[in-house]
Amino acid sequence: MAEPSIHLRIVPPADFGAAAGRLVADLLRENPAALVGLPTGNTPIPVYEYLLAQQRAGALDLSRMRAVMLDEYLGADDSPMSFHHWLQRRFLGPAGIGPDRLLRIPSQPEGIEAACADFEARLAAWGGCDLQLLGLGLTGHIGFNEPGSAADSHTRVVRLSAITREANEEYWQGEEVPAYGVTTGIATLLQARRLVLLVNGERKAAILRRTLEGPIGPDVPATFLRQGRDVWVIADQPAAALLGAGAPHA
Ligand code: GLP
Repeated sequence: MAEPSIHLRIVPPADFGAAAGRLVADLLRENPAALVGLPTGNTPIPVYEYLLAQQRAGALDLSRMRAVMLDEYLGADDSPMSFHHWLQRRFLGPAGIGPDRLLRIPSQPEGIEAACADFEARLAAWGGCDLQLLGLGLTGHIGFNEPGSAADSHTRVVRLSAITREANEEYWQGEEVPAYGVTTGIATLLQARRLVLLVNGERKAAILRRTLEGPIGPDVPATFLRQGRDVWVIADQPAAALLGAGAPHA
């Protein structure tokens, strides 16, 4: 099972959004201007829906919340297929989080290395990430930290694996998925004061098991989360189905 430092919470699928969303809501009640790291993908949708429903019900104030993007496609800029647009539609827009409260990861190919360093500097200047939400890729990636990503990696351009590009086809509606992404690095992520890995659905069961029970290393970058200081894993029952069933295959 998971390391003692990891808080593993297994919930019925219907409770997934609220279980993870409550961690964010509790933080915002304590610190309304908290900086929260936001992933894209199908996984966080129920979490964003929970937070927006809380806001609509008057139970949560998002008017000071700050957000930082986790990853983006290289060259996506203002494309409607970009993660930036997706986050705008799914959460930032309805939550009323404007550009002044969003730290956007760079995506323009020209000068990208300097822009990544600037992003890291701004993240530090904003006080660092209070809570980073993360999805889990089928390759064991977090953000776009694909297999091979080092524990000391920072924000940078990465080549996307074939599996990841296929998994992201739904965003690109028939257009070719970009070959490169820009991602917050593993070392950068581990500096967040709290990390919350979100995992749902049966198709993530094998990779969640490797993440929590396999050897820590770059083959499954999500395993580095086990070295983080305050790490939560919110998994629904189908995703957790293989946990504790003996050593996973490497
Ligand atoms: C993409 C994103 C990740 C995301 C992952 C899982 O590759 N870059 O940030 O966590 O997909 O996506 P899903 O939640 O749709 O399974």
